[in-house]
Amino acid sequence: MKNTRTFLKLCFFTFSLIFISCRTPTKINGGVVSAMPYASEVGVKILEKGGNAFDAMVATNFALAVVYPVAGNITGGGFFVYRNADGSSGTLDYREQAPEKAHKDLYLDEAGNVIQDKSTVGGLAVGVPGTVAGTLEIHQKLGTMPMHELIQPAIYLAENGYAVTEKQARSFNTYREQFIEVNGADTFYAHEFKAGDILKNPPLAKVLREIATNGIEGFNSGWVAEAMVSGVQKSGGILTQKDLVNYKPKWRDPLTFYYKDLKVISMGLPSSGGICLNQMMKMIEPYDIQGMGHNSQKSIQLMIEAERRSYADRSEFLGDPDFVKVPLNILLDSVYISSKMNNFDWNRATPSSEIKPGESYFFESDETTHFSILDDQGNAVSVTTTLNGAFGSKVFIDELGVFMNNEMDDFSSKPGVPNMFGLIGNLANAIEPKKRMLSSMTPTIIEKKGELFLILGSPGGSTIITSVFQTILNVYEHKLSIQQSVDASRFHHQWLPDSITFEPNKFDPKLLHNLNDIGYNSEEKKSKIIGKVDAILVDDDGIITLGADYRGDDTAKAY
Ligand code: GLY
Repeated sequence: MKNTRTFLKLCFFTFSLIFISCRTPTKINGGVVSAMPYASEVGVKILEKGGNAFDAMVATNFALAVVYPVAGNITGGGFFVYRNADGSSGTLDYREQAPEKAHKDLYLDEAGNVIQDKSTVGGLAVGVPGTVAGTLEIHQKLGTMPMHELIQPAIYLAENGYAVTEKQARSFNTYREQFIEVNGADTFYAHEFKAGDILKNPPLAKVLREIATNGIEGFNSGWVAEAMVSGVQKSGGILTQKDLVNYKPKWRDPLTFYYKDLKVISMGLPSSGGICLNQMMKMIEPYDIQGMGHNSQKSIQLMIEAERRSYADRSEFLGDPDFVKVPLNILLDSVYISSKMNNFDWNRATPSSEIKPGESYFFESDETTHFSILDDQGNAVSVTTTLNGAFGSKVFIDELGVFMNNEMDDFSSKPGVPNMFGLIGNLANAIEPKKRMLSSMTPTIIEKKGELFLILGSPGGSTIITSVFQTILNVYEHKLSIQQSVDASRFHHQWLPDSITFEPNKFDPKLLHNLNDIGYNSEEKKSKIIGKVDAILVDDDGIITLGADYRGDDTAKAY
């Protein structure tokens, strides 16, 4: 009897195990992947309530402004790429622009030299913010739920607080001295933080309420605008209320191109993202990158050479299309793109000096944030938004609870001459009043055989484009899962400096040695991460999987 019972128990246990291991993964309807768990949770709650991906975008965006002040914002700018369930798509450019009082010599001294830090720290670094105007525009055109319901979760988080993560505490503490230097010893972020601290921001809750009640006027007029303009000007800036009122987001055609059976829908100018992605993918298309293997020496060489060539073009030709004539018909021409690889040689790195003389260059910092959303109807959203540097200009407006951006540094401070980073700027991206500074943000949506396939993007300054490029190939060519694809080790080349940056301790030293032997300068930067990709994949069977990059606090929430 005892033996029979034991036998039955064993059978039950075995069958349970077989059942658990064989069952298909729970099918999900969609989800939100963003830089912070709170923000992803907010977005998914909106989807669960019946909101669409655009409603979730609005709610997630405002939540990030509260719980991710390093890059989430209402005082920066961004790009929004969407694809409706019916396959139609579009983009919104809510990039910051130069204040009306800006001019091309804004960051030069009387001798014509670039003044250290002027375009990165303090009020003069601040561009006219576009995030609120952009988010409200998206809501008006594509949203379904009332704005006050979408903004309420962010207000709640600002009033009741959120738990600071380990990584956040480290980041707040790293910049503490600079916050004090710019804003004084009483500034909100002047104290030390530790993981688990509950951070409340009642002034920001008040601003969000004002926006919920009065729309864009709640941001660009009245007490919010007065406090913002006065804070920026006190810190040496030139932002005016007229700048805020005159700011308008712009709907633009997406930058689309084909790679094998994929249709890539990405951001065009004033982002360089879509253009460079287009060039790089077309440069590698004729090669059997799948056969070379993931992160093999050959695949790295091929991708590096494509990156190098595309970033050289970026530096020379790209800028705000409303101000400069960009020769897109040439840059995206298939014959031109393939001719760029004519001097590619497997046995020798192409020195960047052979690609193009160093007449121009750019610098961007690493702090930005990306989120991807998919709803149960099949509407897809890809958003990258930024203050530029970590906590932007470090100018903190206490009455509003916000950091101001330092996006002006994405312009070339002095065309043709090395800037404060030892890099060289270019004319297409020179400062002009109301012009939008060139960006690398690459929010992207991809179709495969006409069906939604991939939603992705990344922060990472100039490394954004290469991070998106590599992640697409990881999924499509190397057949990695979405989580493996966003986590996979990355490398980066941007033409100048003529060196490959590898994420530290992730690549076989022998591989780096072999590359050095044929003329590639490689460096593994300490604590340098390359991109933080948040992505959603819909596979050939319609199964949805989410990938949140392990490099940050990034979190995927499904529903
Ligand atoms: N500030 C980063 C970018 O726009 O590329």
